This record gives sequence, C-alpha cells and structure tokens, in this order.
Amino acid sequence: MVTEQDVYQALRGVVDPELGGDIVELGMVSGVDISPDGVATIGIALTISECPMRGQIESDTARKVGSLPGVREVVVRTTAMSREQRAGLMATARRKARESSEPTQVSPMTRVIAVGSGKGGVGKSSVSANLALAIADLGFTVGLLDADIWGFSIPRMLGAEERLRAGDDRQIIPLETQGVRLVSAGLIVESEETALMWRGLMLSKALEQFLKQVAWGELGYLVIDMPPGTGDIQMALARMLPQAEMVVVTTPQATAQKVAIRVADMARRSYMPVVGVIENMTAFSCDHGSEYRIFGEGGGLELAESLGIPLLAQIPLDPEIVVGGDEGRPIVRARPDSEAAQAFRRAGRRIVELIPPAQDETCTARIARLIEALDVRGEQAPLALADQASR
Ligand SMILES: Nc1ncnc2c1ncn2[C@@H]1O[C@H](COP(=O)(O)OP(=O)(O)OP(=O)(O)O)[C@@H](O)[C@H]1O
Ligand SMILES: [Mg+2]
Repeated sequence: MVTEQDVYQALRGVVDPELGGDIVELGMVSGVDISPDGVATIGIALTISECPMRGQIESDTARKVGSLPGVREVVVRTTAMSREQRAGLMATARRKARESSEPTQVSPMTRVIAVGSGKGGVGKSSVSANLALAIADLGFTVGLLDADIWGFSIPRMLGAEERLRAGDDRQIIPLETQGVRLVSAGLIVESEETALMWRGLMLSKALEQFLKQVAWGELGYLVIDMPPGTGDIQMALARMLPQAEMVVVTTPQATAQKVAIRVADMARRSYMPVVGVIENMTAFSCDHGSEYRIFGEGGGLELAESLGIPLLAQIPLDPEIVVGGDEGRPIVRARPDSEAAQAFRRAGRRIVELIPPAQDETCTARIARLIEALDVRGEQAPLALADQASR
C-alpha cells in the first residue's frame, strides 16, 4: 500500500522550471490523499491560476505519482495561491537563488538597480545613463553596466571612446567616465559596425565576464541597462546578482496593461522586485510655453498603479536628450536646469530613498524589507494582471 511519504517523495521529482525548485520545497503541494482503492488526489497551489507551467506541472505530477506501485489513478486539483503563500514561495525561490548564486566581483553591499522595460525604444538607455550620473552626483560611487551586449548604446551617450584594459591581476578595469565606472561591450569591440561579428562568438559569456572579471571595487550603486525582452540575460542577471531590483521605464501611451503583464512576467522569472516606474517622453513643451502630449497620457501612472508601485518621475520629451545622447553630453550634466534634468535627479533621489545605501541597514532589516516589499507590491500584481489578461 502506497504511503503519503511515497507520494511526497515522487512529488519531489516535479520541478517548476521557472522558479528553479521542486513543488514540495516550494510549498506548492497543498494536500495529498490516498484512497484505499489506490486513487491519489494531489492538491497543487499554483502562483497564479494562469501559470504558464500549469499543464506541465499537472502532467508531471500525474506521471510521477502514477508510476508508484499501488496507485491506480491520479487526480490533480490545482488552486491559485493566496497572497501570503505567494510571498512565502517567492522568498524561498529568492533564498535558493541567493544560496546558489555564483560569486561575482559585485559586492553584496552594492545596491543593484536594473533598468528594464516592457518594450524597446522607450528610453531605457537614456534613463540608465542619466540616472547613473544623477545618483553619482548625490555623492555615491556608481557603476554603470551596459547589459545590452548586442545593442549597446551607453558609450556613445557618455562620449566614452577609450577601450577597457586589464589590470595586473587580469581583471578588467571599468572605464571612469563622467564620474561613473562604465563597462560595455562597446568598449571592447573595435567599432559599432564590427559589433555584429561578436554575435555568437563570446557574447553569450560577456555578461558573466562583466560581473565576474571586472574589478568594480566598492560601489554604492550599480545601474544596469537591461537589454530588451524577458529572456536569458534577465535570468542570468538574477542568478548572478540576486540583490537586483528593477526600475521600469515606460511611455505615456495607453498600452500600459500589455506592458505591465510583460513586466510582471519578467519580474516573476527573475525574482526581481519592481521598485518603481519612470515615465519617459511625457510631454513636449515648446518655447511659447504650450505643452504637447505627443505620446498620449497616463501610461506611467497606469502601469505604476497596476503594479502597485510608485511612479518615480515623468521625464519630458526634450530634443536635447537626443542631441546630448548622440554627442556624449547627457542632459543631467549638459543642461542641469532643464526640466528633464531635474526630473532625472528627482528619480535618482527617489530611488536612493527607496533603496538606501547598504551601510545604513543590517542584512536582516534588508531581508525583512524585501519580503515586505514583495508582499505589498510585486506579489499581488501578477495575479491581478493575469486576471485582467484572462478576461
Ligand atoms: N525624454 C526624451 N526626449 C526625447 N528623446 C528621447 C527621450 N528619451 C529617449 N529619447 C531618444 O529616443 C531614442 C531611444 O532612446 P534609448 O536608446 O534610450 O531607448 P532604449 O529603450 O534604450 O532603446 P533600445 O530598446 O533600442 O535599447 C534615442 O534617440 C533617445 O535619444
Ligand atoms: Mg537601449
């Protein structure tokens, strides 16, 4: 006769591939019942009812438990987790990620801010560059990692033309430029044109090298310009830098809901808490004082509200951002009095408030804060969004 213990043992073979753990350790098994005539009923609590892994988890469960001698039939009953259960599960997933994270040259004391977006071309790189400078201007030591390996644009935006070099210990030394420590694939390749030749050669390893073989030194903050998409790079980053938190850039366009679902999905895959939204390209003010909302209105607030996180700043549309970006003169430095520069500074200050420098906080306080943050923001969001999406 099959025991409950046998069933739990079999369930340890069912893995949630995105969360990187088996369903027993992740606390997803809500109950096991075995009838005398060999019917095993398994309760499984999914993070959200539309969990993309649902089908796979159900069929794996049926197969693994069904193969136990004495089990005649398997009934899988799935439910959706409560907010508390989800918070617990994400904490477990992150703890596992932290335990298995590989050592990097980025100090655990460094705050990592990953700048992401739900779609391309919304100004992620412009925001990353200006934000890094704004935080450096607050007096912090700041690193800027251009993780957009194939589509790097930060060197041009900061006017960095030197190549990276290695120190005596064969560690790559970041380029000190405009008061930040910059690393980008663009500082290695010969020219922007030859960048394509890199593709498929060593680029898959480039990000790993940027984290493991760069002598970052003691950084207060590391700002990461994330590549577009929700793919491998995001997951690799989260695996190597489990302390990373995400700031999302969006435009005022009213497509926020779609974007929000993508962002929530990215956060789920990478266990990164999303700490705030920056709306970019908000409005254009002409010399006569009129304001034009060229890209619509309200997208930033809508996204922030649907994710349950603050809108950190609204950056106006300003041609100087384009010019400055092309000529290596970021607007926070080139036009410090402009509205856009002030908005970037506001975003920098808000981020430092939300994610204060590590020295100010004990580790325990930080973990407590992260769990609390998950509880109030990130965790309820994916469910709410998925519910909306399925309607
Ligand atoms: N607030 C703004 N006002 C005017 N132009 C802007 C603003 N923000 C960004 N831009 C311009 O929009 C273009 C795209 O910006 P950027 O390269 O920063 O976007 P991105 O999200 O990093 O794009 P990608 O997805 O290709 O990496 C650039 O030419 C940039 O100068
Ligand atoms: Mg970019």
